Amino acid sequence: MDFWKLLQNEKIAIDESIEGNFSLIKNVKLRESSTHLIRAGGKRIRPLLLALAHKAAGGNNLDAISIASTSIEYLHNWTLIHDDIIDESETRRKSPTVHKKWDANTAILAGDILQNLIFLIIAKDKSLGKNKDKVTEILAETAMAILDGEMLDVDFEKSSDITEEEYFEMIYKKTATLIKSAIKIGAILATDNEKIIDALSDYGNSIGIAFQIQDDLLDLLGEEEKVGKSLGRDIAEGKRTLMVIHSLNNSSQELKNKLLEILDKKENTPEEIKQAIDIIKQTGSIKYARSILKKFISESKTKLEIVPDSQYKFELIKLADFFEIRDY
Ligand code: IPE
Ligand code: IPE
Ligand code: MG
Ligand code: MG
Ligand code: MG
Repeated sequence: MDFWKLLQNEKIAIDESIEGNFSLIKNVKLRESSTHLIRAGGKRIRPLLLALAHKAAGGNNLDAISIASTSIEYLHNWTLIHDDIIDESETRRKSPTVHKKWDANTAILAGDILQNLIFLIIAKDKSLGKNKDKVTEILAETAMAILDGEMLDVDFEKSSDITEEEYFEMIYKKTATLIKSAIKIGAILATDNEKIIDALSDYGNSIGIAFQIQDDLLDLLGEEEKVGKSLGRDIAEGKRTLMVIHSLNNSSQELKNKLLEILDKKENTPEEIKQAIDIIKQTGSIKYARSILKKFISESKTKLEIVPDSQYKFELIKLADFFEIRDY
């Protein structure tokens, strides 16, 4: 599926901006390590959403969406480099993760340099005009929300009574905010109409939550060659995903104890991971998570109702459907 087919020029401009600004990183080792993942690919879903939201809101500022998308993609990749250290993940985008290819110290600094590159390119930029302060504020607040979410994610690993509400707060912060902010920035760069900006942002909120539920499902059931990253890590790390929370609340004491034992164990055998997935399936927790995911996807589409019809809005609707079924 070619999501960029309506936005070929935007895709070229965004890719050029992502690559071109790497030359601002002077230290060669940090340039190589911090650009390794971005150059390995990735779906570039956030720049796509930013550009589509911009167009759907009636905008046509190529330079502004290029710099904003570059900032968002740097932010995303910074947090992934650090997330892979936290989750002890060895593969991403079919490549070794940064701390595996280099080491944890290099990966920490590589993430930090990407983070600061954002503020450098925004400061130098001339295309954001009156929106520069607002975009900077959204980026900084989003970054802080992601860190908040990642902290909760790590802390939840040690708890056996995390609620669904706490899970949704955590994934809203670590994942949905960035997706929502990409869309919001795209819209702000196009229009002052608050109703349109809010409708698109609300759509982003709902698909953002759905995106993480599907990511968690793929970690249990996906194919590593397709997804391109280490899977099964959530069980090994003891992540309290929606499926795990549902399963713990809906299993016999015996199965609950077994699942908790596997989740809490430092290292798991492939057999134990399979056993945990079997328990999660037995309690209907996969079906349950899929039904919640579906609900967020259909909710996201209703949020778009007040946005004027256009081919870009139609693409946003198609993307929501893709988020429900994606296998990578
Ligand atoms: C992975 O995001 C991290 C999550 C928020 C689940 P993506 O699935 O968008 O990763 P890439 O950028 O395509 O590799
Ligand atoms: C999202 O969570 C990561 C960030 C928000 C940085 P995951 O830890 O599930 O993401 P993946 O599966 O490693 O891509
Ligand atoms: Mg993580
Ligand atoms: Mg991870
Ligand atoms: Mg994951």
